[in-house]
Amino acid sequence: MRRVYLDNNATTRLDSEVLDHMLPYMRDSYGNPSSLHWLGDEAAAAMTLARKELASVLGCYPSELVFTSGGTEADNMAISGCMKASGKKGRVITSAVEHSAVLDVCHALHDEGHPLTVLPVDEGGLVDPGDLERAMGEDVVLVSVMAANNVVGTIQPLEELIEISHSHGALFHTDAVQGFCRMPLDMRTLKADLLSVSAHKIHGPKGVGALFIREGTPVSPLTFGGGQEGGMRPSTENIPGIVGLGKAAVAAFSRMDGTNRTMASLRDRLVDEVLMMDGTHLNGHRSPRLANNAHFRIDGVNGTELILRLSDMGIAASTASACSASSPSPSHVLTAMGLTWDQAESSLRLGLSHHTTEEDVGYVMEKLPEVISALRKGKRFNPTNA
Ligand SMILES: Cc1ncc(COP(=O)(O)O)c(C=O)c1O
Repeated sequence: MRRVYLDNNATTRLDSEVLDHMLPYMRDSYGNPSSLHWLGDEAAAAMTLARKELASVLGCYPSELVFTSGGTEADNMAISGCMKASGKKGRVITSAVEHSAVLDVCHALHDEGHPLTVLPVDEGGLVDPGDLERAMGEDVVLVSVMAANNVVGTIQPLEELIEISHSHGALFHTDAVQGFCRMPLDMRTLKADLLSVSAHKIHGPKGVGALFIREGTPVSPLTFGGGQEGGMRPSTENIPGIVGLGKAAVAAFSRMDGTNRTMASLRDRLVDEVLMMDGTHLNGHRSPRLANNAHFRIDGVNGTELILRLSDMGIAASTASACSASSPSPSHVLTAMGLTWDQAESSLRLGLSHHTTEEDVGYVMEKLPEVISALRKGKRFNPTNA
C-alpha cells in the first residue's frame, strides 16, 4: 500500500543529513560542554556552531538565543519570564487561536492575578490590528500573537501588531513554531522582542527548540540550577538535539523559497480538487496562509472517522492540532473562527512538506472522495440540506 504523510503541521520527518550530523554527538563526542577537557571542548564547539547557524537564519546575534526543550518551553519562558521580570501584576494580551503552549500559560498567569485580554479573530483566523489598538493600555506588559497558525495556517499581520504593541510600551512575543523556515522571519526587520521556534517542524529532531530574546529585553528564568544558557535555562545541554536544530534550520531556510513554491502549487491543487466535491469548504483564508497547509470542513463527515479511514489507506492526515487530538471538544481555533461544534468536528487538515509529490496528491484525491461518500452513506448524507 502507498504511504502518504500529510501531517507536517504536527511534525516532520527528520532529514537524513541532519541525523548524520547528530549521530557523532550521541555516540563518540558525548562530552558535557561545561567540562574543561577536550571532550567537553568538542561539545562546546558544536553548540557554538549551532547557535551561530540558528542566529544566521534568524538574522540575530548568537547571544540572543536560548536553547530549550522545544516550542512549548520557549513559549512558557517568553511569557512567564517577561511577566515575572516586570515585577508587577501587568496585563497580557494574546489571541483566541494561539497554541495551548501560549494560551494555557496566559490562563495560568490570569489565575495568579494578571489581567488577560484574548483578542478575537475573523472567520479566516486573522487578528484585526484595530482590535489590538483598542485593547492596549498602560497596564499591558506583553502581547503574544503567533506568526502562523498550526491548524489553518493563517499568517498574522505581525509588523502591524508589533508596532502597535511598542507604541504603547509593551513587549511583543511571537510563537513562530509553525512559521519558522516556512515564511520570512528576519529579526533585523521584524522587531519582535521574543520569538519561539522548534526543530521538529522543520525536519529536525523532537525535543529541542529555542527562544530568541532581543538584547536588553527583561526576562527572568523560570528554572534554577547550573548556569547554562546564561542562567536562563539551567540543565546539561542536549548537544545532539541542538546540533540537529542548527543544521535543520540552515537546510530548511536555504530551500524555503523553492519548497514554498512547490508546496503552494500542490496545496492549491488539493484545495481546488477538494472544493469541487459537494459539501466541502476551505477553513481559513486562501491568503495569507502557510504554503504547506490546507484545512477543510466536510459536511456530513466526522473528522476523526475520516482520519481513521484515510489511515487504513496509508494516508496520514489530521483534524486539527496533534496536541488536542485526544480532547473530546473540537479545536478552539475553529470555534474561535465562528464554526459550530458540529462544523469544527467535520475537519480535515492536510499538511505538506518538501517530500510531498504530485503522486501523493493524486493518491489522496483518488481515495478521499471514496472515503467521504462511504462515510456519508452511513449517515444518509444529503448535500442539499447539510
Ligand atoms: C504553534 C505551535 N506552538 C507551539 C508548539 C509546541 O512545540 P513543541 O512540540 O516543540 O513543544 C506547536 C507544536 O505543535 C505549535 O504548532
